[in-house]
Amino acid sequence: MATRQGGLFFARSLLARAGPGATSVAQMIRLQNVSKTYFSKGKGAGPGGVEALKAVDLHVPKGQIHGVIGLSGAGKSTLIRCVNLLERPTTGSVTVDGQELTGLSGDALNQARHRIGMIFQHFNLLTSRSVFANVALPLELMGMKKAEIAERVTPLLELVGLADKARQYPAQLSGGQKQRVAIARALASRPRVLLCDEATSALDPHTTGSILELLRDINQQLGLTILLITHEMEVVKSICHRVSLISGGELVEEAEVGDFFTAPRTRLGRDFLNDFLELEPPRALIERLEADPGPHSHPVVRLAFSGDAVSTPLISRLARECGVDVSILQAKVESIQDRTLGLMIAELMGDAADTRRALSYLETHDLQVEVLGHVQRDD
Ligand SMILES: Nc1ncnc2c1ncn2[C@@H]1O[C@H](COP(=O)(O)OP(=O)(O)OP(=O)(O)O)[C@@H](O)[C@H]1O
Ligand SMILES: [Mg+2]
Repeated sequence: MATRQGGLFFARSLLARAGPGATSVAQMIRLQNVSKTYFSKGKGAGPGGVEALKAVDLHVPKGQIHGVIGLSGAGKSTLIRCVNLLERPTTGSVTVDGQELTGLSGDALNQARHRIGMIFQHFNLLTSRSVFANVALPLELMGMKKAEIAERVTPLLELVGLADKARQYPAQLSGGQKQRVAIARALASRPRVLLCDEATSALDPHTTGSILELLRDINQQLGLTILLITHEMEVVKSICHRVSLISGGELVEEAEVGDFFTAPRTRLGRDFLNDFLELEPPRALIERLEADPGPHSHPVVRLAFSGDAVSTPLISRLARECGVDVSILQAKVESIQDRTLGLMIAELMGDAADTRRALSYLETHDLQVEVLGHVQRDD
């Protein structure tokens, strides 16, 4: 799209003038031993307060899209709000682009925050301001002159594909368009980092896809570092390079996205993955699994395989070497970054000794095998 490309070009030149970039391996965000306890009088706070973050260490290199995934109440919003000190950590230090924010206050902190943009689940636009005026707001607050503001806002609106909506008001826009305005506004002060707090959770899947694509473009073309929090594996899969898993205020696992999706190390990581990949047995199979299998039954298995196992003809070898027939009832293959992950529900048909041998064959070939139950022979 020509307009969008033009916008990216202009915005890149804007960001390029924002200051000398760090090298590609430099840390852009560094949280060290960050804890946050809320001492509110609210329900459930208790006398010691709510420990929302516990000794969190997080390092995000320049140019990375880092996702933080966790269940509701895990501390995701608290974590991301500690990065720009919307929440001040109770202990620990936060450093962004080489500047320790936890040592700053007042004007110095406000200045530092110009290098950190943020977008939210519900967009947080001012309804009384036009699209243009929403994007211009942070620049007005910085005391920038009108002409200079227009010079920045126009290419940003092109960047997010909303050049023709400058005079419209938020109420006239779709959710996806509102989030595009919010992205343009977040980029107005030429940030080095973009924080996204569940930025697509209020959007339908198609619009989510287009906003994630825009974020990926911004990351790739402008080299902007992105920290995003989400409860959706799909978001992590779509755009993140690396992911941290948060539970009860602690980062319990951190990995490259390809590794996380193929071999999560924690129970919670596996739960997220299983929910994401869920291969539901068909209704007819559930009924067969619930029925009495009788004396001549077959195991039904769910297989998950990744790495070498994906490209190996395991099923035909299984049939040949163990003397079983394999009926594939459901199958699915997911590509995650440069990795492939396969899932299958299959019925192993043969006598008891053969099916036992087949199960141990599968287990020794790097597949995760789960026996869903036994069914009576169909034939
Ligand atoms: N301002 C506050 N005062 C008191 N407790 C708070 C406050 N904000 C958050 N909490 C508590 O801190 C914990 C973490 O909340 P947080 O909002 O960071 O979770 P979250 O992972 O973003 O959840 P969600 O997915 O529902 O947005 C929760 O127990 C929450 O109740
Ligand atoms: Mg939250």
